[in-house]
Amino acid sequence: MRIAVGADHRGFAVRSQVVEAVQRLGHEVVDLGTFSPDAVDYPDVAADAARLVARGEADQAILICGTGLGMCIAANKIAGARAAPCHDETTAEISRRHNDANVLCLSADMLGRRLIEEMIEIWLKTPFEGGRHARRVEKITAIERESAEKRALDNEERQ
Ligand code: RB5
Repeated sequence: MRIAVGADHRGFAVRSQVVEAVQRLGHEVVDLGTFSPDAVDYPDVAADAARLVARGEADQAILICGTGLGMCIAANKIAGARAAPCHDETTAEISRRHNDANVLCLSADMLGRRLIEEMIEIWLKTPFEGGRHARRVEKITAIERESAEKRALDNEERQ
């Protein structure tokens, strides 16, 4: 698979470890940086990664910031992104099985390096279960569609 990887300055310390882990598992990495410890704004990185996934230019994305939370909030603003802030092997697995998460958000500050690698391996190899979960994920997509339609109508009315 093609996996976009992005980090802000707080994720910088573990970013290259994440890139290497993804490559070791046999995937291609689209490396979105950041490439130095200088401060960058996590919404910029999150939106770039989520857009790649939403457009089908990456299959999935992994984002790292201090807590994993800011990246997650920002990525979920992009229609088609289903970003999950995971904190252990179980949440990593369930986010794939039940939610069909296509963006994994990790905390550089709170997760150990070994745990991060284990979570990435689980997340990348776990399939979406479908079935009753597909109906629920489709409802998320329907909410996105409803918001987009409302925005389009509002724009029309303003013109
Ligand atoms: C950056 O200072 C920090 O806010 C960011 O890495 C992340 O933890 C946000 O959720």
